[in-house]
Amino acid sequence: MKIAVGSDHGGFHLKQVVMKHLDELGLEYKDFGCESCASVDYPDYALAVAEAIVSGEFDRGIIICGTGIGISISANKVPGIRAALCSDTYSAKMSRQHNDANVLAFGERVIGPGLALDIVDMFLKEKFLGGRHAVRVNKIKMIEQKYSK
Ligand code: RB5
Repeated sequence: MKIAVGSDHGGFHLKQVVMKHLDELGLEYKDFGCESCASVDYPDYALAVAEAIVSGEFDRGIIICGTGIGISISANKVPGIRAALCSDTYSAKMSRQHNDANVLAFGERVIGPGLALDIVDMFLKEKFLGGRHAVRVNKIKMIEQKYSK
């Protein structure tokens, strides 16, 4: 599994923790920025990660900003992206089982590093259940098609 990682300055420190964890797990990933705590704009990094996934080059994304809100809203504007903003492991589990989320988002100013890594582990481990959930995810795709002109 190839993982695309990105953050703005508000998520920069937590992103370092997440990447160290991915290293320890032996998982392949690429950091799409940002590179420091200098102020940047979260949509730029959301877009880079989102495009890496919809291109098929990467399987999952992990995006972090101060709250996780701006970066997840931005990523979800890209058709094919289902970014789940999670501050707990149950939501991370359901985001995979029910929503087939392909991007995980959280906020460095919201959750601590220990919880963040548990959330990452859950998100990477859980599988989409399909069935009735696939019908609903297909309806999300129909909404994207309706408004993509
Ligand atoms: C940056 O100050 C902050 O607004 C950003 O990281 C994020 O929280 C936005 O949703």
